[in-house]
Amino acid sequence: MGWVNRRRDLGSIIFIDLRDRTGVTQVVFNRELNPKAHEKANHLRNEYVIAVIGTVKRRDADTVNKNIPTGEVELMVDEIRLLNESKQPPFLPGETVLPNEEMRLKYRYIDLRREPMQFNIEMRHKVSKAIRDYLSAEGFFEIETPFMTRSTPEGARDYLVPSRVQPGSFYALPQSPQMFKQILMISGFDKYFQIVRCFRDEDLRADRQPEFTQIDLEMSYPQTESVWAVVEGFLTAAFKAAGHEIKTPFPRMSYDEAIQKYGNDKPDLRLPAMIDAREALTPEEWDDLAAKFRMRKEFPLQLIRIPKAGDISGTERRTIGTYGAYQHVQGPSFVQLMTDPKRFAKDYPALSEKVVSFAKIEADDLWLLAGAANRPENAAVMDQSIQHFCEKCGFLRLDLAQKYAAKHKAFEKTGDTAKDFRFLWVSDFPMFEWDKTEKRWNPAHHPFTSLHEEDMAKLEANIDSVNDPKSPLGEIRALAYDVVLNGTELGSGSIRIHRQDIQAKIFQALGMSDEEARARFGFFLEALEYGTPPHGGIALGLDRIVMILAGAESLREVIPFPKTARAVDLMVDAPTPVNEAQLKELGITIRKARE
Ligand code: AMO
Repeated sequence: MGWVNRRRDLGSIIFIDLRDRTGVTQVVFNRELNPKAHEKANHLRNEYVIAVIGTVKRRDADTVNKNIPTGEVELMVDEIRLLNESKQPPFLPGETVLPNEEMRLKYRYIDLRREPMQFNIEMRHKVSKAIRDYLSAEGFFEIETPFMTRSTPEGARDYLVPSRVQPGSFYALPQSPQMFKQILMISGFDKYFQIVRCFRDEDLRADRQPEFTQIDLEMSYPQTESVWAVVEGFLTAAFKAAGHEIKTPFPRMSYDEAIQKYGNDKPDLRLPAMIDAREALTPEEWDDLAAKFRMRKEFPLQLIRIPKAGDISGTERRTIGTYGAYQHVQGPSFVQLMTDPKRFAKDYPALSEKVVSFAKIEADDLWLLAGAANRPENAAVMDQSIQHFCEKCGFLRLDLAQKYAAKHKAFEKTGDTAKDFRFLWVSDFPMFEWDKTEKRWNPAHHPFTSLHEEDMAKLEANIDSVNDPKSPLGEIRALAYDVVLNGTELGSGSIRIHRQDIQAKIFQALGMSDEEARARFGFFLEALEYGTPPHGGIALGLDRIVMILAGAESLREVIPFPKTARAVDLMVDAPTPVNEAQLKELGITIRKARE
């Protein structure tokens, strides 16, 4: 039984490619052998649903189709039954040319019939099952937490659900089960996990959906290392389920090192790190070069290298640096670029040779040097930090990679070819980050994250400096970590604060009054006072994992019913206005949009 994927009419013989979840099989209607069935086959059209009974036969050698698993056989039909007809679909699942995405999302049920989508959804199932099995075997309990709850601390905008019984009051959909999983540790379930939907009203991108799925877990009495081992364990199982071996333990890197070498807190290790080319030079040589190129001596001289980029024309070289670094970071650029190695070699043969051998640059590599510009006319940006400079170089590195690194585009669409999976743990994130718009320090992860014990004194000394951009709060390191794969953040977690007095200090440092903290997280602060065990955990984006495994460009390829960038479900057409009676019952009046 299945769908008519394709029909070929050769007169006395009609071939139907019959499709079901497992693939396609050729079905043959022969007028001479079975005129009744042949006559019925005349009326079949694409996507009709049929049942056939017949005999499976080996095909003649010259008609074997090596491209499909069933290509050596065909079914000679004895009997056919039409189970249902189909309107002419807006596009055909069997076609290789993709219709536009709007069409695919509106007719998602047709789109999901396509082989690549069936593959992705099946893989999603296998991956989540492997994770569930692994964590269950390790003694984790899967425990559900509420969807209708109150604001959680992840810091995006909430989706709200109005209460009918208490007009004017709202539930918030959870941005994550963060507080509940911590409460579960206080409740004695010392190993918890959940594959759970989370909701965030934020600006959407290819790797962000308004509702997405987390693999969420929490453990009591953990070391950072024990959380990492669990994650490495379930990722090994998940990737194995998708047909890939991965190596553990994953390499580790501090946040500072990631910024310095990759200009980014989620380094893509498939490309070489940036190298501070000053290391190849003597202090005198660097003095001289910095003066000639008008570069700031105390900033690194970042060497960006894209291996095997091939020949790049002079014109192309000149355009490098006019894009990339400048588009992403606001404010005037202060990156000074040397993009023409040939000219560099001509003008500074000795230095060029030193740099090339130090960085092991090969003939067909694209490479350039980036220093911090030291121009008097740029005085306004003179206090830009080394971190900011490294980030700009990091953007440039990724932009060049997009354009020139064949490896970056090496994903195969079918998802079953060997892939280069480069995992990484990034740790020791800053505890606080400066919010330029609100002019205040915010938690970089969330406010329940522990800090390094050595940094406690710094916290106490600067506890009232939430509005001071120069406050040493920015130097405090958190016991927070990310797991990164090929330049994508897969997950984030931390060791939590388990003492109420320290939690209160963090709220104070965040400029939250006692009353404010009580109003937002009162129940949680109270729970912390009843013998809370030390605990920690992490959450990984399931959609992102499957997206990378599928070699897809967007989460929409691996979520059965996703939303568009404007958070619309095109198939069911949501969100929609609701009728007056419903609003009235909820005590809600809609203000007319301003002209
Ligand atoms: P965080 O907010 O970093 O941490 O989220 C964890 C992981 O969830 C995924 N993710 C998303 N995936 C798709 N669309 C989105 N809009 C989206 N937002 C996040 C990412 C991300 O790494 N409660 C903490 C975890 C913890 O501390 O245990 C949390 O939610 O893959």
